[in-house]
Amino acid sequence: MKKPNRPGLADSISVSRRTLLRCASSAALLGIVSRGAFAHPTNIHEEMKLFGAADKSKSFPDKFLWGAATAAHQVEGNNTSSDFWALEHIPESIFKEPSGDACDHYHLYAQDIAMLADLGFNTYRFSLEWSRIEPEEGFFSNAELDHYRRMLVTCREHHLTTLLTYSHFSVPLWFARKGGWQHADSPDRFARFCERATKHFGHLIDYASTFNEPDVTHLLNWISLPGTEGKSLVEILQSGLGGARKHLNAPDFADFFLGDGRKIRDNLLAAHAKGKAAMKSARPNMPVGFNLAMSDDQPAPTDSHLEEKRADVYGPWFEVAKSCDYLGVQTYSRAVVGKKDLPPPKGAELTQVGWEYYPECVEGVVRYAAKQTGVPIMVTENGIATTDDSRRIEYYQRALAGLKRAIDDGVDVRGYVTWSLLDNFEWMSGFEPKFGIVAVDRATQKRTIKPSGAFLGNIARRNSL
Ligand code: BGC
Repeated sequence: MKKPNRPGLADSISVSRRTLLRCASSAALLGIVSRGAFAHPTNIHEEMKLFGAADKSKSFPDKFLWGAATAAHQVEGNNTSSDFWALEHIPESIFKEPSGDACDHYHLYAQDIAMLADLGFNTYRFSLEWSRIEPEEGFFSNAELDHYRRMLVTCREHHLTTLLTYSHFSVPLWFARKGGWQHADSPDRFARFCERATKHFGHLIDYASTFNEPDVTHLLNWISLPGTEGKSLVEILQSGLGGARKHLNAPDFADFFLGDGRKIRDNLLAAHAKGKAAMKSARPNMPVGFNLAMSDDQPAPTDSHLEEKRADVYGPWFEVAKSCDYLGVQTYSRAVVGKKDLPPPKGAELTQVGWEYYPECVEGVVRYAAKQTGVPIMVTENGIATTDDSRRIEYYQRALAGLKRAIDDGVDVRGYVTWSLLDNFEWMSGFEPKFGIVAVDRATQKRTIKPSGAFLGNIARRNSL
């Protein structure tokens, strides 16, 4: 029988070892080599000395969660019943390219989860694709619910803590056609889905999240893109709404990004409350929170609207977080806030998506979010888009040094999850931005672990910088 193109885990790991030998930092090398090609140290104390884990000044709290994240639509492939799939395929789509097979994580999840665990991580954050589970209103597919149950079981088999996001931007097309999050029934529709999913596999979830970045509806108003004459990102997105409605023959079409931001937020707030109640009714002791998009906001020297921005974007969600079991924070850079977010300073290093290279954002964000909410914080996304993996390694070093400073000062942070496990479908930008610690050849679906994956995995394994 012909050997399939797709590599087994062993193949990808051996590739990564070779790659590592060429380019990884000495810290990454130390971890990988001592576990693989060379003899194991004879006892745990020796191993701890070797990894520096005995050095308390560098270690993280016991049971600290170290993970990588994905989102269903960005990795699974062929989410043909979702709003995004429809938008990707209309004429003059605002998407650079369609998601297609993406990373075929839908079929390759077992190999990907094993790879994550083998790298040294103890946590996987991923999301449900609602449009697979409820492809038509009121029809719930047991086969698809079983798929996500199998993913959760696979995580258990690899001793990975599971962070499950119920809604990461994409929604079923039927839901978007009916007005998406603008519709008054949207909170109940979401709660029904939350209840069904939690009944099916809630016992396997360690931390549930209702929404990924529900504050984006308002955050986008503060971001201006270079060369867009002061237009906010949200205005640019909305300009495509009329065309989308026409092409889809759906006059009420709206979703997470498209529609009336104010109405969408009100319904997301209600949907969070109802969704959380539905989850808790199915499994009362399941920790539930959500994931907030945040920049490390800093005041411009003059005319800063920093506090106005914070009240507008995070304010209502911080209130909600106070009654959650934890808050996930997701941050990539800082924002210097004038009347709006200012463009990055002249000469600043930018990542592939134009954001300022600013790993210290993690420290700023966890300190601020913890102070505002008083609940345990988890970093559920952080990372950079780059084709120069050595810049990602330095980013992690600096981000984690900052996180450690905050923890040492008493900030209650329970975990650090990087975005992303795989190079994936970066929404409107298509597959070009490379956020992954693992590269994906989309023709063969072959995975190749990057040095940064081994580097971060080794920190995770020894729970210490
Ligand atoms: C989102 C991800 C996205 C990442 C990088 C976050 O806002 O949750 O879906 O890929 O940022 O842009």
